Amino acid sequence: MVQDLRERGAIGAAAVERAMSTVPRHRFIPEVTVRTAYQDVVVVTKRDSAGEAVSSASQPAVVAQMLGQLDVRPGQRVLEIGAGTGYNAALLAELVGPEGSVTTVDLDADTVNRARESLDAAGYRRVRVVQGDGERGFADGAPYDRIIVTVGTWDLPPAWWDQLAEGGILVVPLEIRSSEHSIAFEYVGGVLRSRSIICCGFMPMRGIGAHGTQTVELSAGRILTFHADKEVDAAGAQGVLDERGTSVWTEVAVRLGEDMAQLALWLACAFPGCGRMSAPFGDHGQFRLLLRWANPAVVDGRDFAYVACRRSGDGSDAEVGVRGHGPNASALARKLAEQVRAWDRLCREDVRLRIDAYRSEVGPTVDGRFVVPKLHSRLAIQAV
Ligand SMILES: C[S@@+](CC[C@H](N)C(=O)[O-])C[C@H]1O[C@@H](n2cnc3c(N)ncnc32)[C@H](O)[C@@H]1O
Repeated sequence: MVQDLRERGAIGAAAVERAMSTVPRHRFIPEVTVRTAYQDVVVVTKRDSAGEAVSSASQPAVVAQMLGQLDVRPGQRVLEIGAGTGYNAALLAELVGPEGSVTTVDLDADTVNRARESLDAAGYRRVRVVQGDGERGFADGAPYDRIIVTVGTWDLPPAWWDQLAEGGILVVPLEIRSSEHSIAFEYVGGVLRSRSIICCGFMPMRGIGAHGTQTVELSAGRILTFHADKEVDAAGAQGVLDERGTSVWTEVAVRLGEDMAQLALWLACAFPGCGRMSAPFGDHGQFRLLLRWANPAVVDGRDFAYVACRRSGDGSDAEVGVRGHGPNASALARKLAEQVRAWDRLCREDVRLRIDAYRSEVGPTVDGRFVVPKLHSRLAIQAV
């Protein structure tokens, strides 16, 4: 598993490689075979009464990349939110060594017990496992040099700012409207500045910080769904695909297989009504979605527009377009197309997006091309 992760570029740092070569992942997920335990797959360990996954051992490639982002040094104090199986806490214990400390928090008592038992059995008795709502962090042990969140979150609650040391690093799977990215922030002078942003997908946080999603059937018979942020009423998009549509082609070419995460993030920042649209396997409808599982789509009142693509040139490229539906669809489609072109001009290849997070009480003077308000924080985003 470790060799595979290294060859695929998921493991960068030697310390992470050593930790992953040392901790026996199979001891933390006895419900699967040893062979499965060392494949690069998520192992769901708990579901709620509706069958939704509520705890798991995360995908090893994502675990490795997030540990790379966290940049843990021996002797540091680390807080993890989302103990789950305890596997990542064991990796953290290897990274901090005997002089450091690891505290991991989980919402559920049974998950805490399970993590405790597995950590004890694997020889990681020094890891502290506590039950609580991670939204509150864990004050007893703060300030932490590193905080890592292993559950999807919509906001950056006050406790994480309060409990992170100056110069410390927070790694968090943050939802920005429809887009979810693991962001490594460095805490300097009261601002969390992003150092790296990678694509990820986590189960959503429950408890105090839970943030629901809306699902809307865009068209009867074609199961396309839209997951909008709470700040937008997505109900207006119901049935919208049955209405006549309009297309705008952008002349922006993308390579097949090119990483589109930055485009998705750019559009999520640009449109408060940005959600993600998905289509079942093989059902692209008349217009092909650019991204099958998390295709950028925007709702604005009764209007709806989504990013589409068509093959161009010799077939190795695709042209990005926008399809709009609703009474004023052409105006919305044109706006979306304009932002696709802006992304192409300003944020491709070596240009990266940087996110500066401020506590929400910091005034409206935050600087950035886009400003995304949350409840406890405010994000300023720009291409650098
Ligand atoms: C993807 S799992 C974490 C995987 C874990 N780090 C590991 O190595 O196995 C997410 C965990 O977050 C927990 N969780 C969800 N909401 C939480 C909250 N508000 N506070 C603390 N833990 C929470 C879930 O119970 C679940 O165990």
